[in-house]
Amino acid sequence: MHHFAYRNGIMHCEDVSLETIARDLGTPTYVYSDATLRRHYNVLAEAFHGLDCLIAYAVKANSNLGVIATLASMGAGADVVSGGEMLKAIKAGVPANRIVFSGVAKTEEEMALGLQHGIFQFNVESMPELQRLSRVATSLGLRAPVAFRVNPHVEAGGHAHISTGSAEHKFGIAWHEADIFFDEASKLPGIDPVGVAVHIGSQIMRVEPLKEAWEKVVALVHRLRARGFSISRVDFGGGLGVPYKDGDNPDSPSAYAQQARDVIGQLDVKLVVEPGRLIAGNAGVLISKVEYVKERDGRTFVILDAGMNDLIRPALYGAWHEVLPVKTPALGAPRRAVDLVGPICESTDRFAKDRPMPPLKEGDLVAFMTAGAYGATLSSQYNSRPLVAEALVRGDACEVVRRRPTFDEMTALERAPDWISSG
Ligand code: LLP
Repeated sequence: MHHFAYRNGIMHCEDVSLETIARDLGTPTYVYSDATLRRHYNVLAEAFHGLDCLIAYAVKANSNLGVIATLASMGAGADVVSGGEMLKAIKAGVPANRIVFSGVAKTEEEMALGLQHGIFQFNVESMPELQRLSRVATSLGLRAPVAFRVNPHVEAGGHAHISTGSAEHKFGIAWHEADIFFDEASKLPGIDPVGVAVHIGSQIMRVEPLKEAWEKVVALVHRLRARGFSISRVDFGGGLGVPYKDGDNPDSPSAYAQQARDVIGQLDVKLVVEPGRLIAGNAGVLISKVEYVKERDGRTFVILDAGMNDLIRPALYGAWHEVLPVKTPALGAPRRAVDLVGPICESTDRFAKDRPMPPLKEGDLVAFMTAGAYGATLSSQYNSRPLVAEALVRGDACEVVRRRPTFDEMTALERAPDWISSG
């Protein structure tokens, strides 16, 4: 469910036409819908109603300050994986005591930042990380609230590159070694071991594999409690998938929440969840313009002004995004199989191969659907292209929430070495 729809033949985001946005802001531009973000957060919040639950939005999905601020204003917490994400979440209004710090490679500086701000929890993934965190906390006269992220050895996730829960992945501690970690934590002066966390992958369409992982977490909590550890939190991670194409039918947030309730039962813990894609995925589209239509060797290449530097998911994961013309095609206009490609000098800069599309010509606009998550956050300046712009729409208002940098801004951090001019 989202708020992108055709009105009078033109696709709109809420009450604003994508043609108007393209005209005013140029292309490529990401456009996010405030109503869709809010709806997704609300659906989830309602599904967890009555349960002691922190919805920590996974900032990596879409870290635009406007998006985080929208969710923060509704009470969302944040799951962050770097000092930068942490500072962005705080800047956007997420209270520090609603921030979970995940990630396998936290630096001392990042740990100190989290401790000084008093964040809710560090999700720890290795013994050296635990020991470093204790050292940093002790040096600050503080104790770090810690959950151990366990690797439950459960396979899931929409693509091999976004699955994280089996032994070969770098993530988490082995779930059968959790006792060793709690024993060690209880001896460390800077650590307050409070919980167990899990995250097995992303774009998971069915709740069953999540159940298997969550049940392992709950069994672990029972075992640890029996050994005298007072575990007060479980973190079930993120991962529930969203529909990208017709026929995709992921399990619903309410099925997800019901399963969490069932698995937790009478455990008496605070629950943390870390949804990213579920909230931001179909709250955003990427608008792009057709630069050229090139016919060659019996193929038609529709060359867009958006490239893999703006939306890398098709190149990186073979991901499928619906691409719709911003203007509805004439009734009965024949569809033709084309390759949708970008301007980048790489063969992987192809969004779709042999995709049946209505007639497209130079200057036409298209919208990549379901591009709100892992779109702009993975964008780059590859080929020295300016970072893609982002806009947020609410009703009939549209605000630029990240403008396109100028050439001077784009190159401001670089310089030629002195020996060039002095030589
Ligand atoms: N928690 C942790 C510890 C994570 O690593 C992730 C995602 C999430 C939560 C949020 O997962 P979600 O609810 O969004 O599925 N770039 C890839 C997805 C990478 C996901 C990385 N971790 C893509 O575009 O499909």
